[in-house]
Parts: sequence; structure tokens; C-alpha cells
Amino acid sequence: MKNKVVVIGSLNYDMIMDIPKMPEIGENMLASAVSFAAGGKGANQAVQAAKLGMETYMAGCVGKDNMGDFLVDTMRGYGVNVDHVRRTDGITGMAAVNSLEDGGVFATIVKGANFEMTKEDVDGMEDLMESAGIVILQMEIPQGINRYAIDKAKAHGCKVLMNAAPAAPFSEDDIKKCDIFVVNEVEAGFYAGKAIDTMEKAEKEAKEMSDRLGNTIIITMGKEGAVVCSQGRTEKIPSLKVKAVETTGAGDSFIGAVSYGLMNDMDIFDACTFATRCSAVTVCRPGAQRAMPTLQDLK
Ligand code: RIB
Repeated sequence: MKNKVVVIGSLNYDMIMDIPKMPEIGENMLASAVSFAAGGKGANQAVQAAKLGMETYMAGCVGKDNMGDFLVDTMRGYGVNVDHVRRTDGITGMAAVNSLEDGGVFATIVKGANFEMTKEDVDGMEDLMESAGIVILQMEIPQGINRYAIDKAKAHGCKVLMNAAPAAPFSEDDIKKCDIFVVNEVEAGFYAGKAIDTMEKAEKEAKEMSDRLGNTIIITMGKEGAVVCSQGRTEKIPSLKVKAVETTGAGDSFIGAVSYGLMNDMDIFDACTFATRCSAVTVCRPGAQRAMPTLQDLK
């Protein structure tokens, strides 16, 4: 049965700092608290899928440093198979995540070992792709590796879910090859070339993109919810109203949960509704991976 989840992507050591507001250029700001956590979009998405009970495999790179040890051990602890996480001579990827008082976040990412991924790392996942239903990708690894992984995944009959985060140039021909293309409002603005700052604009953009490219487009709009357009049907999926503590990894929780839904026979709309429940739990607790819910938590 093709129901495994394969994630090819980043692992980052996150330093999460609580700050009162967005700084100005030239401003130095005091953080009221700091915490360290396992992160990276790829790792977070894999952990969410595994926490929901999916058989999940990760391919990625970390350094031979303590941060790399911590990231690999943490993922393994959540049940992700990390046999294909390679240790390189470079430094482990890192993220300086700034968490604002309203729960919003912005981050600076150090590429590190994530950008040492090679085509051979993808080749190493080919056997697994035979029994995988979905391959999840993001943009914290080289684009050439993503393109290579998309072609391999398609050749093995897997669905490709591309989370184009952080947004980076990616041709429409490449986007077309991804069965599901997921962006947040900022990333949607990058690809649309205009601000996508309301649900109405997101709905219009998702529909136009999906009609033009023929794939499923999902635009997540933070606390507003998400817009999903697939095969001519567009739906707004409202988010659950919760008191956000910190939103790091909310989008990754959504992606991991979408993979769970799709691998458990939900259509994309039901999978996204389920995923909004998962990310609602994630934002109510601090951190990314540790905040993500299990099926038991959701009950
Ligand atoms: O999506 C959240 C993640 O983005 C963080 O864990 C950070 O590492 C960055 O990759």
C-alpha cells in the first residue's frame, strides 16, 4: 500500500526570542525570553505527520555538531525515521525566530548543511518512494534538488506537495508538476506579484493559479484560515478561534496534517479542515515540534 510519508527538506536549530514589536532599521531590541527548539520546515512537517501516526521518513542534512545530534534525536523521539538524514562537515542549519506579543513570528534562516543536499540524497529515498503516497518538499534546500526530487517522486507515482517557503523563484512549469502547491499570504504575494492580504484576494489568486496550472493551490492566511482551490472547486476554510501563544511551525503542522488526511482517504478540502484543527492546537503551545498535536490531543 502506498501510504508512507516522505519528507525531503530542512532541519534547523531554532533560537526563539520573545520581542515586543517589529524592530526599526538600526534599532537594537531586548528579548524578554529565549528558548531553543528543534525546527526546520522539513523536520517540523515530518514530525507532525509522525505524531499523527503516519509512517514518516526524512531525508536531509545536518552538521556533525551538537545541534545536529539534537535535531536527529528529537525527530527520532517523535517517531520519524531519520536513517536518511546525512551528517556533513558543514554547520547545522539554524533559525533566529522572533516571536512578537500577538503570536506573530519572523525568522532569519542560516542555510548551513541543508544546502549541502545532493541528488544522491534524493536517490537514497527511491526505494521508499515505491511505497510512499506523498512526498513533501519546501524551499530551505537547493532548488535544483527540489526539481530533481519532484521528478523522482512523480516517476514513482507519489503525490508531490510543495510548500514554497520561504518563497524563491520557481517557474510555472515547476509549480505545475506539483500536485499540491501551498503558500502563506506573504509567499502568495511573491508568486502573484501583488499583495494577497485578504481572504477574497487569496480566493481569486488560488482560483486563477489552479485554473492556469491545473493543480491544487492552497493559500494559508494565518488566523483567517486557508483558501483551497482544486479541480474548479474553491473553498474558504476558516481557522478555529484560539488564543495564540506562539505561531512557529503552525504552517508546518498544517502541511503534516494535510498529508495525514490525504493518506487516510480524505479529499483535499476535508484534509485542510482537519489540518486547521491541528495548527490551531500548535499555536496554543510554545515551540514547533513539541507543540504539534497527536490524534489523542485532538480528541
Ligand atoms: O516554519 C517554521 C520553521 O521555519 C522554523 O522551525 C524555522 O526553523 C524555519 O525553518
